[in-house]
Amino acid sequence: MNNQDNFYSFSDHETLCSALADVISSILQKGIIKNGRASLMVSGGSTPVLLFKTLSNKNLPWTNIDIGLVDERWVAADDNDSNEHLVRTHLLQNHGAAANFTGMKTPAETATDGENECSNNLRKIHHPFDVLLLGMGGDGHTASLFPGAEKLKAATEMNSGKICIGITPVTASHERMTLSLPAILAAENIFLHITGQDKKNVLEKALIAGEAEEFPIRFILQQKETQSNFNIYWAQ
Ligand code: 6PG
Repeated sequence: MNNQDNFYSFSDHETLCSALADVISSILQKGIIKNGRASLMVSGGSTPVLLFKTLSNKNLPWTNIDIGLVDERWVAADDNDSNEHLVRTHLLQNHGAAANFTGMKTPAETATDGENECSNNLRKIHHPFDVLLLGMGGDGHTASLFPGAEKLKAATEMNSGKICIGITPVTASHERMTLSLPAILAAENIFLHITGQDKKNVLEKALIAGEAEEFPIRFILQQKETQSNFNIYWAQ
């Protein structure tokens, strides 16, 4: 997955977001024509905000689009740290307000206790997912697959049969719910969206052969047998 022809670099983030929003829109529209519905799974963090805003202004058939989360902090859905809050604030606005959103947070005390209900909710989203957006942290994590997390192995076990896993990072705040690696890799189109030289340097390190647990983005980069289209979008 790490051949150079899947790496797209842009001089600025606005140009990246315009191009990526066009590509995502085209995939979703084709998915709707083919299957009647399409799905967009998004990560949180600060990087995707401009992309969310750009997508929200696209005049797509949003009532036929399911939106879900790649991961979630286990906080109230109106908490500023909530990815659901982020998506409701920036993506489920304008034309995007008509999309069908499914969050990950459940009333369960912990993410682990919420796995079954969250799995049932995720199964309501059109799958295989048409588009899945990943970010990456400076520690090489993606989704909530964090290096050093106790349940990283469980979350990346390809034969687990699990779609989501509660996981507690040691390098970030909040217990999380994350899509499992098999659930991520089942997506038809995966985009890694990163900006800045620091993250490009982390990516370069992750592209060097090594233990995936050290830089969990490697679980995606090193996959050979998955059928997903995988592309990296980077802006300076
Ligand atoms: C989250 C995200 C996470 C994010 C990276 C990058 O819930 O935090 O899903 O995986 O993509 O941490 O975050 P930034 O875009 O803020 O650098």
